Amino acid sequence: MSPPIDFRIRRRTLLQGGAAVAAFGAASNGNSAQAQSQSQDAAPAGSETTTVSLTVNGEQRELTVDNRVTLLDALREHMQLTGTKKGCDHGQCGACTCTVNGERINSCLSLAVMHDGDEVETIEGIGTPQTMDPMQTAFVENDGFQCGYCTPGQIQSARKVIEEIRAGIPSHVTGDLTAEIAITDAEIRERMSGNICRCGAYANILAAITQVAEDQA
Ligand code: FES
Ligand code: FES
Repeated sequence: MSPPIDFRIRRRTLLQGGAAVAAFGAASNGNSAQAQSQSQDAAPAGSETTTVSLTVNGEQRELTVDNRVTLLDALREHMQLTGTKKGCDHGQCGACTCTVNGERINSCLSLAVMHDGDEVETIEGIGTPQTMDPMQTAFVENDGFQCGYCTPGQIQSARKVIEEIRAGIPSHVTGDLTAEIAITDAEIRERMSGNICRCGAYANILAAITQVAEDQA
């Protein structure tokens, strides 16, 4: 027989419980009316906002966001740049990949307020249907997608992977750290391993990246 205790603790319940404990703790120290009043007047924890300035796809943007808003949600919900996708929202799928100051990051793992003054590039900034980036063209030519949900993140990562290899940044498959890193299938697969494709278009994604690398050689 299961114990008569509900172990399903939710974050909201926990926070409310914490606030209640704090209020009762203050009350037990003597001034219960004052403590209750302060508890009621206090803003909900974490509701502060901050104004941040970003350069997004070459355009200066200023927005005021709740401090808890991720860069991903700022892009999608506040700037309507929905090309950057939300898959897991936990740093596990790579769908939210964009570049910040030239480095690829998982935007779901980064708070918008951390990027004041930064330069952000999303999939909308690298090409249009009329003037596609070479990596976008290669993905089309090699059928590097099926449903397309992971594709913006794949393309963002793929462009950086080639740059990272050419810059000699080592990976786990790099044996001799002093040797020049070759653009091999293993090297590309390793560096793209943070971008998951549920449709399993990996072979074609690899072909697209290889094509761009060879064209640029
Ligand atoms: Fe960011 Fe999955 S949505 S890694
Ligand atoms: Fe569907 Fe990658 S193309 S998840």
